[in-house]
Amino acid sequence: MSVAASSAFLPSGSHPIGVSSVPGQLSLNARLRYTPRTRLLPSLVAELGYLKHSDGKPITYMYEPAAGIKRQNCEFELVSMPIMDARHLAPQPKIDVAGFELWEAPTEVVDFRNDKEVSSKYYSEASALVKASTGASTVIVFDHQVRQREAGRPLLSFGRAGDGSKPGAVGRVHVDYSEETGQKRLNLVLQDQRLAESIERFAIVNVWRSIKGPILDTPLAVCDARSLGAGDLVAGEIRYQSRNGELYLVRHSNRHRWYYYSAMHRNEALVFKQYDSLINSVSRFTPHAAFDHPEATEATPLRESIEVRCLAIFD
Ligand SMILES: [Fe+2]
Repeated sequence: MSVAASSAFLPSGSHPIGVSSVPGQLSLNARLRYTPRTRLLPSLVAELGYLKHSDGKPITYMYEPAAGIKRQNCEFELVSMPIMDARHLAPQPKIDVAGFELWEAPTEVVDFRNDKEVSSKYYSEASALVKASTGASTVIVFDHQVRQREAGRPLLSFGRAGDGSKPGAVGRVHVDYSEETGQKRLNLVLQDQRLAESIERFAIVNVWRSIKGPILDTPLAVCDARSLGAGDLVAGEIRYQSRNGELYLVRHSNRHRWYYYSAMHRNEALVFKQYDSLINSVSRFTPHAAFDHPEATEATPLRESIEVRCLAIFD
């Protein structure tokens, strides 16, 4: 149907020049002329690993469990989702709104595989970055992880096969902390119950970047925290040999809006929120997952990245 033909069949009461008579609603003419900005963003389609089903609370063992116990009691499904290149968003996403933001953040670290250099140099850089990004008054970096994807290794894992010595990219949609473990992390980092009780607001924030060239293989996708529904997050247990952890797995919804930053280079850092103790008005959980870039070939350099986890405390 042509534009002229379609405009001849407007619903009764519609204005013929594209102004709706109902406030907040666009007429058919206006919809033809104006397209929401997000539809114009460069995007790709890739598969993301969502939780499909579990027998009770999802449990995943990160080691070979005793005979008769399944390595996991849950199933995942790969769902093709549009992932938009957030570089083209205007205005740019903000961490307290969408749950993530990108910073130009040059680093003085030479070798990210040198733990001493990372903890002596990069931790203070990351701390300053998270302060600038979130407005927190105190930031304590408590963990870091260097990841290198191995050729041919399936993505659908939590990135720590076997003894956890060779972490790869994480292909399942998840949030690093749940409501419960987010709260517990405050005490674990501070090791001071009274001090922890005196803190009114804190957040757990990740800083993620390439440690080599631009990220072209298995980039990181982040889900706009505003597109989450109440039933989308499912607490799942991760069992290690020496401890148990809990994170959120995510059920699929077509409402989820996914973004990535194309070809992130070594001097850029993605800052995104895993948990916020504030319940109202801010993003709280940011689901994320690595995905296979549809344009990556066998010649594409495999992704090498580092993430640090930070406790951000607000006055
Ligand atoms: Fe994660």
